[in-house]
Amino acid sequence: MDRIRIVGGNRLHGQIPISGAKNASLPLMAASLLTDETVTLSNLPHLVDISTMAHLLTELGVHIEMDGEAPNGGHAGRALALTAKKVTESTAPYDLVRTMRASVLVLGPLLARTGHARVSLPGGCAIGTRPVDLHLSALEQMGAEIEIREGYIEAKASGRLQGAHIVFPMVSVGATENALMAAALADGVTVLANAAREPEVADLARCLMAMGAEIDGIGTDTLRIEGCDSLHGIHHPVIADRIETGTYAMAAAITGGDVVLRGSRLDLIEAIADVLRKAGSEISETAEGLRVARSNGPVQGVDVMTEPFPGFPTDMQAQFMTLMAVAEGASMITETIFENRFMHVPELCRMGANINVHGASAIVRGVPRLSGAPVMATDLRASVSLVLAGLAAEGETVINRVYHLDRGYERLEEKLSACGAEIERLKD
Ligand code: EPZ
Repeated sequence: MDRIRIVGGNRLHGQIPISGAKNASLPLMAASLLTDETVTLSNLPHLVDISTMAHLLTELGVHIEMDGEAPNGGHAGRALALTAKKVTESTAPYDLVRTMRASVLVLGPLLARTGHARVSLPGGCAIGTRPVDLHLSALEQMGAEIEIREGYIEAKASGRLQGAHIVFPMVSVGATENALMAAALADGVTVLANAAREPEVADLARCLMAMGAEIDGIGTDTLRIEGCDSLHGIHHPVIADRIETGTYAMAAAITGGDVVLRGSRLDLIEAIADVLRKAGSEISETAEGLRVARSNGPVQGVDVMTEPFPGFPTDMQAQFMTLMAVAEGASMITETIFENRFMHVPELCRMGANINVHGASAIVRGVPRLSGAPVMATDLRASVSLVLAGLAAEGETVINRVYHLDRGYERLEEKLSACGAEIERLKD
């Protein structure tokens, strides 16, 4: 299994191209099931999760053509043309869903298009139990009959799904996306209240509008969708990855560097930018993207609580904790979205961090320096937090289980080494 080796201490300087957002790409790919015409998505990141979704869609009958040539020297990702002329299969099997929970995003589109879906129930994962009850309840309110049988969600609808007024009891990105896609082909008007406002949801809504659905309230917590009999093909470029942006912004901050995050935008990371400024970094928008620099003194401790968008994202919590590990003073980091998302703490402590977890909060007392160590993590964002720690640490850090990173960070070591980091992939 590959590993990543980092020798810490170098300040990052230069430009980092930001890829298309993984978490926008996955639902957009699933949305191709809603039409018999071709949906072409560009600016897709080259990641294992994208290949997994492509594999699943192929099994369901979607024909996929890939434009391997990526523009701008390869960084802007590739385009996929997805055509679901006929959906030939309506089962998302356990073996695929097990490797990627986002596979559950085919449930709404399959049901809306074919009246039937059989999707393996995703189990818990490293960061929490992550049930899908909100997805199922929304689809039931639209007229679906749902049963759990032999580990599978069996959903069927007699005729078209019906528009409904759905109030989510809590904010869920995936449930909003599943309901949004189903509503686009439903009969009548669907209102989604307390909907997720994440930019990835808005990107999906914009794509569905371009395909022919009428959607009001994009970017707010109330979406009103007027479904259509049929949707048509389009070309849609995927938005920039705000979590990749935030992660490299933290890398600039922790190394006292100065980088331009090419192709990204401030409005995608307002909450992250706000916290980074309080912690002592400068962030500005330039013609090419976002410039993040830290030159004035040490990192400052800042308290943070994760929240649904526009709050501080849970997907940045581990990376921010690494930054706080070397801050002057203490900070309290509270995780409100997932119940088990502090798995990086013991590994950071092995590198010399001083962190104590009390329930959903972690008290981080900054230390002057971390020291390199062999480490590993159990999920994507925890793994990248260890990369950041390695960049700032004295000496050598070797990160195991690199397959987590490959799920969410395209060409990570190439992007960082182009800015002066000493980082390489060790092939086994
Ligand atoms: C999406 O997951 C992202 N994944 C996650 O990114 C991200 O951490 C999360 O949103 C929160 O921002 C994708 O977009 C593919 P949720 P999702 O439904 O949709 C509970 C990464 O590292 N809940 O918004 O699965 C749930 O347990 C990943 O890229 C229910 O209780 O997240 C959690 O506590 C990890 N019932 C909370 O809601 C449900 O039916 C928010 O989850 C659904 C969710």
